[in-house]
Amino acid sequence: MSFPRLRPRRLRKNLYLRDLVAETRLSPRDFIYPIFVKEGIDKPEEISAMPGQMRWPVGEELVKHVQEALDLGVRSVLLFGVPKHKDDLGSSAYDDQGVVQRAVRLLKKELGDEVVVFTDVCLCHYTSHGHCGVLAKRCRGDLCEYVVDNDKTLELLAKVALSHAKAGADVVAPSSMMDGMVLAIREALDKEGFTDVAIMSYAAKYASAFYGPFREAASNAPQHGDRRTYQMDPRNGEEALKEVMLDVKEGADILMVKPALSYLDVIRRVREAFPHYPLAAYNVSGEYSMVKAAAEKGLVDEKKITLEILHSIKRAGANIIITYHALEASRWLKEGLDLKMF
Ligand code: PBG
Repeated sequence: MSFPRLRPRRLRKNLYLRDLVAETRLSPRDFIYPIFVKEGIDKPEEISAMPGQMRWPVGEELVKHVQEALDLGVRSVLLFGVPKHKDDLGSSAYDDQGVVQRAVRLLKKELGDEVVVFTDVCLCHYTSHGHCGVLAKRCRGDLCEYVVDNDKTLELLAKVALSHAKAGADVVAPSSMMDGMVLAIREALDKEGFTDVAIMSYAAKYASAFYGPFREAASNAPQHGDRRTYQMDPRNGEEALKEVMLDVKEGADILMVKPALSYLDVIRRVREAFPHYPLAAYNVSGEYSMVKAAAEKGLVDEKKITLEILHSIKRAGANIIITYHALEASRWLKEGLDLKMF
């Protein structure tokens, strides 16, 4: 009689057996690829904080780049705008001739329903002060401060979403973490007849240092203060369920947890509490750039570590992954690297 009788190692004996019993499979179709579109440039611009990522002018090269994504099997893109003009009310965010609106119209004209177009709905790239909403001065005695006015911001977010829907966006993705943003947007869309435009809500979005590189990419850093009065406290997990529950009640179609890696527990909890909703996780700029920096130094195997990270996000419970690695990871998956490395 040999001992032990139960040997998990039996199923790890070789490549194809391991693959057969693998619980998680990643596909390019799981990815949403974030793309920065910038006004006032005529050539793609490198983003130094995010090696491999560019800011694209609205034009032929953008269409080609999205076509490249489609050819790799990545069917969804998420557009972020980098406008020329900024003001207190972020007016270029809801300008029908704004950079995102023009990019959506172009992609939809050239590629139609081959591509699913998501748009980020926020004001921070468009306001001169860099906050995700309208500022109001609040004074108590002599002590005055600027705070983000939640309800005034809702009106503007609804205008932004509506202008994206008019341009042809399939899904609008509000990211400002204002209370009531999903309902405000849903009502505005429905009132204008855009009942079929879906909402992917940045439902549990944390005030995270992992957004660092993105702020260079989209120049949306707050000029004063920070985002802790609207984004969530990284110490909280239960509260994420409250945020998600409210967005579900307000009519969100797809839920999101952001960032992903330090919040895999939150992804798991949301998956279990809301099993019947699609759940996206945002593998954010800092997570991307850390991998790039470590790989550049020769400290890690970039391909393997990237695929391990992306699988871990899916294993945690996300069925959609928003990631800057989308194109390269899809190439590696096509080459069968997932099969070989695990
Ligand atoms: C804007 C927005 C941010 C990101 C997505 N939408 C930045 C922020 O909240 O500061 C970050 C994405 C990333 O870091 O990749 N509201």
